[in-house]
Amino acid sequence: MARLRLMGRTQEQTMVTPVGSTLLNAALQLKVDWNYNCSRGTCARCRCQVLEGAEHLNEITDAEWNRMDEEEFEEGYRLSCQAVIESTGDIYAVHRPYFRSWLARG
Ligand code: FES
Repeated sequence: MARLRLMGRTQEQTMVTPVGSTLLNAALQLKVDWNYNCSRGTCARCRCQVLEGAEHLNEITDAEWNRMDEEEFEEGYRLSCQAVIESTGDIYAVHRPYFRSWLARG
Protein backbone atom coordinates (compact mmCIF):
# COMPACT_ATOMS: atom_id res chain seq x y z
CA MET A 1 0.00 0.00 0.00
CA ALA A 2 1.12 3.52 -0.73
CA ARG A 3 0.09 6.66 1.09
CA LEU A 4 -0.89 9.12 -1.59
CA ARG A 5 -1.50 12.84 -1.26
CA LEU A 6 -2.91 14.63 -4.29
CA MET A 7 -3.45 18.34 -4.77
CA GLY A 8 -5.93 19.25 -7.50
CA ARG A 9 -6.89 22.72 -8.64
CA THR A 10 -8.43 23.64 -5.30
CA GLN A 11 -8.69 20.44 -3.30
CA GLU A 12 -6.16 18.24 -1.55
CA GLN A 13 -6.95 14.68 -0.51
CA THR A 14 -5.03 11.80 1.00
CA MET A 15 -5.62 8.08 0.65
CA VAL A 16 -3.98 4.74 1.17
CA THR A 17 -3.99 2.87 -2.11
CA PRO A 18 -2.68 -0.46 -3.32
CA VAL A 19 0.13 -0.55 -5.85
CA GLY A 20 -1.01 -0.82 -9.46
CA SER A 21 -3.19 2.29 -9.57
CA THR A 22 -2.35 5.26 -11.77
CA LEU A 23 -2.23 8.69 -10.16
CA LEU A 24 -5.15 9.68 -12.38
CA ASN A 25 -7.30 6.78 -11.20
CA ALA A 26 -6.50 7.67 -7.61
CA ALA A 27 -7.42 11.31 -8.25
CA LEU A 28 -10.75 10.25 -9.73
CA GLN A 29 -11.38 7.93 -6.81
CA LEU A 30 -10.64 10.75 -4.38
CA LYS A 31 -12.83 13.14 -6.39
CA VAL A 32 -10.02 15.69 -6.49
CA ASP A 33 -10.56 18.42 -9.12
CA TRP A 34 -8.04 16.94 -11.53
CA ASN A 35 -8.62 17.28 -15.22
CA TYR A 36 -7.93 14.74 -17.93
CA ASN A 37 -9.26 13.80 -21.31
CA CYS A 38 -7.66 10.93 -23.21
CA SER A 39 -6.36 8.61 -20.45
CA ARG A 40 -3.68 7.35 -22.85
CA GLY A 41 -0.88 9.90 -22.67
CA THR A 42 -1.65 12.23 -25.55
CA CYS A 43 -3.65 15.24 -24.32
CA ALA A 44 -1.42 16.12 -21.31
CA ARG A 45 -4.37 17.61 -19.45
CA CYS A 46 -3.56 15.27 -16.59
CA ARG A 47 0.02 16.51 -16.22
CA CYS A 48 1.21 16.69 -12.63
CA GLN A 49 4.39 17.36 -10.71
CA VAL A 50 5.49 14.65 -8.33
CA LEU A 51 7.04 16.45 -5.38
CA GLU A 52 7.63 13.39 -3.21
CA GLY A 53 7.91 9.66 -3.83
CA ALA A 54 8.70 9.54 -7.56
CA GLU A 55 10.78 6.45 -6.84
CA HIS A 56 7.54 4.60 -6.07
CA LEU A 57 6.23 5.13 -9.62
CA ASN A 58 6.90 3.27 -12.84
CA GLU A 59 9.47 4.42 -15.35
CA ILE A 60 8.50 7.20 -17.73
CA THR A 61 6.45 5.66 -20.51
CA ASP A 62 6.90 6.00 -24.27
CA ALA A 63 3.72 8.09 -24.38
CA GLU A 64 5.23 10.53 -21.89
CA TRP A 65 8.51 10.72 -23.83
CA ASN A 66 6.48 11.51 -26.94
CA ARG A 67 4.43 14.23 -25.25
CA MET A 68 6.81 15.94 -22.83
CA ASP A 69 10.34 17.36 -22.72
CA GLU A 70 13.26 15.92 -20.80
CA GLU A 71 13.47 19.06 -18.66
CA GLU A 72 9.96 18.39 -17.41
CA PHE A 73 10.95 14.93 -16.24
CA GLU A 74 13.95 16.41 -14.45
CA GLU A 75 11.52 18.71 -12.60
CA GLY A 76 9.31 15.80 -11.61
CA TYR A 77 6.51 16.18 -14.12
CA ARG A 78 4.52 13.13 -15.19
CA LEU A 79 1.30 12.42 -16.99
CA SER A 80 -0.87 11.09 -14.22
CA CYS A 81 -2.66 8.64 -16.53
CA GLN A 82 0.72 7.03 -17.22
CA ALA A 83 2.22 7.16 -13.72
CA VAL A 84 1.57 3.86 -11.99
CA ILE A 85 2.25 3.30 -8.30
CA GLU A 86 4.65 0.36 -8.15
CA SER A 87 5.88 0.21 -4.57
CA THR A 88 4.93 1.11 -1.03
CA GLY A 89 5.74 4.59 0.24
CA ASP A 90 4.59 8.19 0.48
CA ILE A 91 3.76 10.04 -2.73
CA TYR A 92 2.76 13.67 -3.14
CA ALA A 93 1.68 15.00 -6.53
CA VAL A 94 0.18 18.31 -7.64
CA HIS A 95 -1.96 18.71 -10.75
CA ARG A 96 -0.13 21.13 -13.05
CA PRO A 97 -1.55 21.21 -16.58
CA TYR A 98 0.16 23.42 -19.18
CA PHE A 99 -2.73 25.85 -19.40
CA ARG A 100 -4.94 26.65 -16.51
CA SER A 101 -7.32 29.09 -18.19
CA TRP A 102 -9.55 26.35 -19.59
CA LEU A 103 -9.94 24.94 -16.08
CA ALA A 104 -11.88 28.01 -15.02
CA ARG A 105 -14.46 27.50 -17.75
CA GLY A 106 -15.99 24.67 -15.82
S1 FES B 1 -5.45 12.09 -19.71
FE1 FES B 1 -4.59 12.68 -21.59
S2 FES B 1 -2.46 12.52 -21.24
FE2 FES B 1 -3.33 11.78 -19.41
